[in-house]
Amino acid sequence: MDEMPPINLTELANDYDECRQIDTTESERLFNIICEHGQISGRILEIGCGTGFYLIPLAQRFPESEVHGFDLSDAMLQQARRKQKEARLQNCLLSKADGQNLPYRDNAFNFVLMSQVLHFFEDKPDAAREIRRVSKSGARLLVITSSHRQLRSQVDLGMFPGIIERETTRIPSLSDIRKLFEREDFDLLATVEFAVTYKATSADDLAEWASNKPWSSYQLIPETEFATSTEGFRRSLKETFGNGSITYLFPQTLLFFQNK
Ligand SMILES: C[S@@+](CC[C@H](N)C(=O)[O-])C[C@H]1O[C@@H](n2cnc3c(N)ncnc32)[C@H](O)[C@@H]1O
Repeated sequence: MDEMPPINLTELANDYDECRQIDTTESERLFNIICEHGQISGRILEIGCGTGFYLIPLAQRFPESEVHGFDLSDAMLQQARRKQKEARLQNCLLSKADGQNLPYRDNAFNFVLMSQVLHFFEDKPDAAREIRRVSKSGARLLVITSSHRQLRSQVDLGMFPGIIERETTRIPSLSDIRKLFEREDFDLLATVEFAVTYKATSADDLAEWASNKPWSSYQLIPETEFATSTEGFRRSLKETFGNGSITYLFPQTLLFFQNK
């Protein structure tokens, strides 16, 4: 396997929200699960908040809480800031920072969330130490990720040539994530699988969407390989689903921890 190219976060930010749009009922279910297992109260932190997919609804649901979010990408933050402004949120504080070195005092937060971010960190043990440092005793931590089984089952990744080997190298397994945080005195409280449903009008539509590289997974493939991979993807979709519309899932795993 060639060396993986770097991820261009600015390119990802452009259509990130459009790709993440989910049905209101699914969104309601997802946030109910987060609130139930997260037992959210007090000061909240989202690491790598991106466009605010989680942060903005959490700030709306918990007006009494101070909700902090940071990201390394200006382009992602710009969109989160626009949403914060549109929703007139006074309790939501956004900043640019690197998750390897958190700009917060010790024992500052009651609830910490990171969604699809851990695999971006070069030094994961160091990132976990930083999370432990800023978490209060008894704080809850939510890590949202995709298990390797879920990655393989995902039509838009599992059927795209060249992705799975790279993604299972880049994204830590659930047991590695568990060990990483247990070493920092977090206990795993609950593991919840949650899938969001997406629909494409046809195989061509889905292949066209993938050709614009909406997920970082597609950026891992060198340019020379990407065009042939997209054609391989289109062919596999047609063989499997024919000419009709395709309903597919984006399954993720929510790991809820508690700081001792
Ligand atoms: C796949 S996106 C997920 C965004 C958001 N958490 C969500 O679920 O919608 C990964 C995010 O992590 C951010 N990120 C990557 N490395 C980071 C770092 N070292 N520090 C802070 N944020 C980082 C990226 O800019 C990007 O917004």
